[in-house]
Amino acid sequence: MIPKCTFQNSFNRWIIAGLFIFIALASCNNSEMPLKQKAGSQEDTTVFIPPDTSTIPHDQFGDMVRYGRELVVNTAHYIGPSGTVGKYLGNKMNCGNCHLDAGTRPFGFNFFSTHARYPQYRGREDAVLNIGERINNCIERPHNGSPLPLGGKEILAMECYMKWLSAGVKTGGHVKGDEALELELPDRAADPEKGAVIFATNCASCHGKNGEGQWKPDSSTYIYPPVWGQFAFQRGSSPSRVLKLAAFIKANMPDKIATWRKPLLTDEQSIDVAAFINDNEIHARPQKKNIDVPDYPDTRFKPIDYDLGPYLDSFSESQHKYGPYKPIIEHHKAHHLAIIY
Ligand code: HEC
Ligand code: HEC
Repeated sequence: MIPKCTFQNSFNRWIIAGLFIFIALASCNNSEMPLKQKAGSQEDTTVFIPPDTSTIPHDQFGDMVRYGRELVVNTAHYIGPSGTVGKYLGNKMNCGNCHLDAGTRPFGFNFFSTHARYPQYRGREDAVLNIGERINNCIERPHNGSPLPLGGKEILAMECYMKWLSAGVKTGGHVKGDEALELELPDRAADPEKGAVIFATNCASCHGKNGEGQWKPDSSTYIYPPVWGQFAFQRGSSPSRVLKLAAFIKANMPDKIATWRKPLLTDEQSIDVAAFINDNEIHARPQKKNIDVPDYPDTRFKPIDYDLGPYLDSFSESQHKYGPYKPIIEHHKAHHLAIIY
């Protein structure tokens, strides 16, 4: 068990605290272990342990951290279509429906190292974005909404929360568990028909036969969020990519049954069910708003599972979307092209 690094900046000044500081520093050193480790095999059970919410400081910064966390968990309440502070989201999902446990779950689209990695170049926009602009990406894409004002309190609060969460993470660095769970890619293309059976057996009980999810009784948000349909994540958003979604599903779904340490679905099943969810022939979902502005204008940075060409290779849109991915990866390797997914 790795001790949590609960050493925040609000220690009292009593002499006795010196002793605690000494002990806390000693455990902080230990908690850096996962940071220093190279990404190991999936048997390696060491992952980054974010700070505990009880260590959020009781000062103005801490108040913003708490508000930021609250926005991530109860997003629809504050900034949903009938939000109390403004109407920004186009649906009633919460950030935490995808960024699980308020962005603190390993392999659950967490925010472990997010703050440490922004500003960064983003291929989709072909521009350097700051963290606020990246948050707005999710508000515009999966949430199908309009951006929050960049100088506003809500963006700042979420940024404070992410900063607090990434305390101790080296600037620009990654930590164990902040990226996708590695998947063994099958030699065949993903099969939405097989995915349909997996969905009916393992997912429909919560997400609904028609992927519509299940509302809370007051319809303010969801008990189980939708996975396709007019209120689900947009086409062109990160989860609409088969491999991106498959890695999340394998590590986290069915909710409270599968964990990244003990997944329920195999890699192939996760890819098949992600292909079924993201099959645009059978499932409608909101479209990107400014459709004429292409994503990844610099094709070199297009992820291999992005389903709209042009590409730097001659594989079809369908193969990029569903695979088999290995020939694409091999081709990219041979031609020194980036392999992003
Ligand atoms: C439907 C799912 C979904 C919802 C809802 C969602 N996101 Fe995301 N978000 C993603 C995915 C997928 C990624 C890409 C993660 C990756 O590449 O590992 C992402 C990435 C991000 C990133 C960049 C993370 C990083 O470390 O680079 C931020 C910041 C972010 N989201 C914030 C938010 C906020 C704030 C909300 C709520 C307003 C939100 N997201 C809602 C799916 C979602
Ligand atoms: C026991 C109920 C349950 C089952 C079964 C279940 N999920 Fe989920 N799923 C959830 C909940 C709850 C969330 C939101 C998590 C949160 O807010 O903490 C979620 C979130 C998701 C999300 C991200 C949010 C969204 O709606 O886009 C996807 C995708 C997803 N589940 C896919 C699946 C797939 C695929 C399966 C079957 C392999 C599955 N789930 C099985 C309850 C379930």
